Amino acid sequence: MNMFNIFYQSHAGSWAILIVLFLLSCIFQRQKVTGILLKIFYLIMLVSGIGMLVMLKFPLMYVIKGLLAIVAIGMMEAIMGRLRRKQPTAVFWVILVVALALVILLGFKVLQF
Ligand code: HEM
Repeated sequence: MNMFNIFYQSHAGSWAILIVLFLLSCIFQRQKVTGILLKIFYLIMLVSGIGMLVMLKFPLMYVIKGLLAIVAIGMMEAIMGRLRRKQPTAVFWVILVVALALVILLGFKVLQF
């Protein structure tokens, strides 16, 4: 298996787990396990994503996808912090859902340019 495949398989196998871990962290706020696992999965997605970006020589479409993914991760962290402090989260959920939808559609080349 070449390096690109290792990045690709880790990326393709981890994004759904990341979303599940985020939702579990929102629902079960009194434990820290899913929150810690979630941060490990942020790292897996970032390293594998940037790894592929480098090997593909930074195509614009995937650079934008990567930036949107970073926005999505930021929104996840903002939502969890604000839930903990009992602040409103609605705007952050809207941004998260839009960013994540675009990331997944770009990832699967449903959206392409
Ligand atoms: C919230 C984080 C992320 C999610 C949910 C996500 C989701 C996805 C999905 C669903 C795919 C398609 C996988 C498949 O074909 O089975 C994909 C591919 C890809 N992602 Fe991500 N991603 C995330 C973060 C990142 C980051 C941070 C980068 C780069 C900085 C990145 C770069 C890429 C690239 C380059 C591909 C294309 C692989 C290919 O088909 O050649 N992703 N991503």
